[in-house]
Amino acid sequence: MPGDYKITDHTYDVLIVGAGGAGLRATFGMAAAGLSTACLTKVFPTRSHTVAAQGGMSAALANMGEDDWRWHMYDTVKGSDWLGDQDAIEYMCRNAAAAVYELEHYGVPFSRTEEGKIYQRAFGGMTTHFGEGQALRTCAAADRTGHAILHTLYQQSLKHDATFFIEYFVLDLIMVNGECRGAIAMCMEDGSIHRFNARITVLATGGYGRAYFSATSAHTCTGDGGGMALRAGLPLEDMEFVQFHPTGIYGAGCLITEGARGEGGYLTNSEGERFMERYAPNAKDLASRDVVSRSMTIEIREGRGVGADKDHIHLHLEHLGPELLAERLPGISESDRIFSGVDVTRVPIPVLPTVHYNMGGIPTNYHGEVRAAVGGDAESYVPGLMAIGEAASVSVHGANRLGSNSLLDIIVFGRAAALRAAEIIDKNESIPDLPEKAGEQSIDRLDKLRYADGGRLTSKIRLDMQRTMQANCAVFRTEEVLQEGVDGMAQVYDSFKDVKTVDRGLTWNTDLIETLELENLLSQAVVTVNSAHNRKESRGAHAREDFPDRDDENWMKHTLAWFDGDVKFEYRAVHDFTLTDDIEYIQPKARVY
Ligand code: FUM
Repeated sequence: MPGDYKITDHTYDVLIVGAGGAGLRATFGMAAAGLSTACLTKVFPTRSHTVAAQGGMSAALANMGEDDWRWHMYDTVKGSDWLGDQDAIEYMCRNAAAAVYELEHYGVPFSRTEEGKIYQRAFGGMTTHFGEGQALRTCAAADRTGHAILHTLYQQSLKHDATFFIEYFVLDLIMVNGECRGAIAMCMEDGSIHRFNARITVLATGGYGRAYFSATSAHTCTGDGGGMALRAGLPLEDMEFVQFHPTGIYGAGCLITEGARGEGGYLTNSEGERFMERYAPNAKDLASRDVVSRSMTIEIREGRGVGADKDHIHLHLEHLGPELLAERLPGISESDRIFSGVDVTRVPIPVLPTVHYNMGGIPTNYHGEVRAAVGGDAESYVPGLMAIGEAASVSVHGANRLGSNSLLDIIVFGRAAALRAAEIIDKNESIPDLPEKAGEQSIDRLDKLRYADGGRLTSKIRLDMQRTMQANCAVFRTEEVLQEGVDGMAQVYDSFKDVKTVDRGLTWNTDLIETLELENLLSQAVVTVNSAHNRKESRGAHAREDFPDRDDENWMKHTLAWFDGDVKFEYRAVHDFTLTDDIEYIQPKARVY
């Protein structure tokens, strides 16, 4: 092995990479099933990005009005612009209520109705009677739902016999003859290298929002699992679909929850007009996120933005009153005071559509098993590998995710992965040793970056990437702008060969970690802009001005993209079937807002 690295070997039944909501739910589910379980995380578990989720978790509990999980399923299919796989969507929506009650019993302090039931608020695209009325479906713990869930899940994990490796950065999967046999990681505290031999490895590493300049995602959201998958020769799915949340704080990018509009907030332009009434006469400010983000962008482009530069929009909450704001939206009231210096009880919040979520990711089935998808065989799977949460594309969100379906996704599929692992692992079978040189290439890569002495700092290359993605792969897209993005990202990617790191040490070398993260971001940024350029239609969050219509005949299919310096595409059919016979496939139709 190269360099001065101390290597330690470990063996577990399962290895979970990431300790956000999906990772933790899988971790304690697997430990509870009697599997020896390790969870590796680059940040302390309760600092994972799930902590920042605000508005809530969807489930048709009908606590505050009529509801039905079938309506939730319909909304999710429609919200996905018919790119979601309906078997997976049925699985998620059917299991939603049980997932919320499970969390309640684990100790999540949900807000309550007068009767003591779990409080539920309105969210975009969530309807009753298949699009007729507005559902109150999003279960909330004020506007700190992710915080409440993540802390509860970590407490549950500690109750079980899982081993946590905290502040370990996973470098790569260990692949042997097409099978995943574990992963190789670096302990950030002392730079020691750890090889994990596992029957199943689960990637729960979150999204890659930091490929963009302005994102609600934490700085740690660098899509490390997606980067590892691409390096392992595996495809990523539907990467062109990047969600812009309508209400990031102007200038700072911090999230202002959709729950703010769910509680009665509304958007205005420079003329004081509630413009969403024009774009979505039925759903108005609670249209799905792709629709609201596009409408805001049009308002700004047509000169009706607010502020000195007319480059943002106002979100009004003043009329809700200080009491409701303090009870239901205390978190965003504080963020707003800190990041835009505004008192929400008196003045509107300056907001702008901001990158929030990646619908694309590592393709899986609803058990979390990763599709091999080689040669078009989408129903073959990579032995030993699973992916869950935002890192994965199940695909329940298709071309556009509905707000509050993400917290649901991480719990339902974190649990599903644990159930599947318990089912397929045979504890009586011995775990074969790893090949002696397993992980050697990853240490080589690490060593090269540790001593990289080129002409461009990591931070400079990262900024070039973020600006290119923001300018060339945003809310509205055209051939010209995307081609410029494809060329621009090719150059930025190439410039990584000339990267310079300055810290040569092994103790808390954040320079090195950021460089490894950048490498993960870069490959996914290249795949994203190329996939967007490749898809010649508009669907969900992918809005092509030169192809304004959805084209079901040619493009009702998932993009699979491989990257080895060049991007290669194949396609996977959208599932035109549901999970059970009692639920009919929801036929595609035009979206009416
Ligand atoms: O607006 C929000 O609170 C975000 C929720 C989500 O992305 O699911």
